[in-house]
Amino acid sequence: MQNMADKLLTRYEELKAQISFHNYRYHVLDAPIISDLEYDRLLNELKKIEADHPDWITSDSPTQRAGARPADRFEKIRHPAAILSLANAFGADDARAWLERVKKLDDRVEKAKFIVEPKIDGLSVVLHYRDGIFVQGATRGDGEVGEDITSNLRTIRAIPLKIPVARNKELGPSPLVPRNLVVRGEAFIPIKEFDELNKKLEEAGEKTYLNPRNTAAGSLRQLDPQLTASRPLTLLVYQVVYSEGGQVPTSQWELLEYLKALGFPVADAAKRFNDLESAIAYTETWNEGRDKLTYEADGMVIKIDDLNLAADLGFVGKDPRGAIAFKFPAREVTTTLTGIEVEVGRTGVLTPKAVLDAVEINGVIVKSATLHNFDFIAEKDIRVGDRVLVKRAGEVIPYVIGPVVDARTGKEKTYKPPTKCPACGQAVEHLEGEVAWYCVNAACPAQLLRNVEHFVSRGAMDIEGLGTELVKILVESSLVSDVADLFALTIKDLAVINEELNKKRREKNPPKTAVKTAAKKAPDKRPEKLFNAILEAKNRPLHRLIIGLGIHGVGEVMAKDLSATFGSLDKLADTTVDDLMSIEGVGPNIAESIVDWFATPSNKKLLGKLKKVGVWPTVEQKVSQSSGKLSGLTFVVTGTLPTLSRDGVKEFIESNGGKVIDSVSKKTSYLVLGENPGSKLEKAQSLGVKVIDEAELRKLAV
Ligand code: IVH
Repeated sequence: MQNMADKLLTRYEELKAQISFHNYRYHVLDAPIISDLEYDRLLNELKKIEADHPDWITSDSPTQRAGARPADRFEKIRHPAAILSLANAFGADDARAWLERVKKLDDRVEKAKFIVEPKIDGLSVVLHYRDGIFVQGATRGDGEVGEDITSNLRTIRAIPLKIPVARNKELGPSPLVPRNLVVRGEAFIPIKEFDELNKKLEEAGEKTYLNPRNTAAGSLRQLDPQLTASRPLTLLVYQVVYSEGGQVPTSQWELLEYLKALGFPVADAAKRFNDLESAIAYTETWNEGRDKLTYEADGMVIKIDDLNLAADLGFVGKDPRGAIAFKFPAREVTTTLTGIEVEVGRTGVLTPKAVLDAVEINGVIVKSATLHNFDFIAEKDIRVGDRVLVKRAGEVIPYVIGPVVDARTGKEKTYKPPTKCPACGQAVEHLEGEVAWYCVNAACPAQLLRNVEHFVSRGAMDIEGLGTELVKILVESSLVSDVADLFALTIKDLAVINEELNKKRREKNPPKTAVKTAAKKAPDKRPEKLFNAILEAKNRPLHRLIIGLGIHGVGEVMAKDLSATFGSLDKLADTTVDDLMSIEGVGPNIAESIVDWFATPSNKKLLGKLKKVGVWPTVEQKVSQSSGKLSGLTFVVTGTLPTLSRDGVKEFIESNGGKVIDSVSKKTSYLVLGENPGSKLEKAQSLGVKVIDEAELRKLAV
């Protein structure tokens, strides 16, 4: 009997080691070698043994991760050494100034090496190991005393319950572990897991979380570890806070290697450099590539590698002199939502816009942000007066993520979406299956304004000089009630609206000495210039007019296809959904939207007016991609051409069946060369691509 129990105990120990090894492969190395099914089988065998022998269970058993009962409160823990923070550097010069300062304090800094690590935007945690067993874990607290969150930390599978974790040969021998070891790391939720968590909550109709950091912080401060266990937390370690009874490396680089060898997760992006400039350069590559990190980082930490030197440098307040946080520009800030305005789009869609207390995000002053739609405001319970989290990343327009509920004072006001269009007062409508609210009044001045703005924009009819301010005056003065009216404007009309514009501008910025400016004033050429620009726009090619009409779903590529296929608006207006769907890239939705557009009475009327004023371009249909003189040829254009503009040369080539692409490759047929060419010329020459000028291009097309 004794023998059998011994055997079972051996098997029990073996199972614990095996499971912790596979757990490590999965959660730390991200390289599992067994299936989930096999893992579960091992775990079930272990659970069975523990059920029969509860006295055998130790705290490092994998079954003990989420086993603890809810607590009433968190106990306080005094840290064995101060949990320090970091001074910030906002750019390379700040980092250089830091080094100059510390160089003066110690000669060894001159030869120092540097470690660059990601500054993870999570929560600092302190993990205690006694004889290799995880015994206690705490929050940072005030740096001296933190809160005991051991049961919660246990649920994080990336935290080894026993070190060194069982290893296989491939990883080499394990280092020795000090009797007492206290390490520090950052607990966080990876971006992908955060997005998945929010998606699940959304699908379940529950409230979503604001951002990974807040969610991680909230998850770790749950009194019930079961709740913590349900959140996708993980961790990366970077420091030994205290050790006793063993040797730990005295270089940060070796320390990271050592922690890794014990089984702790360590940031892959950490790197060592021989001088500060290389460290800064590396930091900056991460600033640009920060989307490649799987977690949120608010900067990189530059650390002096020699930990004895770093310690000797001492600290300023709570910031050690041996390291500096090189901050990335912030992408998220909080500010006050002072109001909600509603904009009416070209298609009548009503969009709520947040009016914000001005705030800088990533070098740009932000005063307003999108609130997406009215459902979003209701779902997030965003109230006027709330502190809100606003994000601006890359090219995206700033948007409100949600309210900071904890900052509420009780004075915030719940928002009610408008029942009437703010521009024309007509009741708004909800289309079935869509979240958006619409103003369906075809004569709504706000829609007309957006329509005209779109019609005259660079990508459409490109009428130079007709900016938003002028368009507004044109619409408000009733001189323009649809885009065709633009072509009926006389120089006199334009002079009147120009005077109106000047008046408005003067009211905004009154001239300091009115007499002087009036005396010096040159004759205003704007009305004439505008008149000529409108006249010139009559000759725009068909596809630009199609873009200008603003048919839902029809962009530049589609407009070009429609223009080449139908050749005129008469033919396009006569087409059917089936005909349209035979064109590549046209699906049922776009086909229907086109047919609907031409069937709408107000649009029919508009087309009649356009024809009457002579805005009725046609395309000879024989010139299509397959039959033009340039068909099958690809062109790259560089430099300024003598007569053709950027868009002009593109149109010339495309209307003759050719294709224009952005960069030169071996497959490029010709490089069209103008004055002041860029690097494309060199590339074309090195690849042996033929180089021609505008005159030669024109010859090719005849
Ligand atoms: S080193 C002496 N390294 O950033 C050690 N901190 O503003 C000082 N953090 O409170 C900290 N990633 O919570 C260090 N790789 C990293 C870090 C890191 C994130 C956090 C940490 C600290 C804060 C400093």
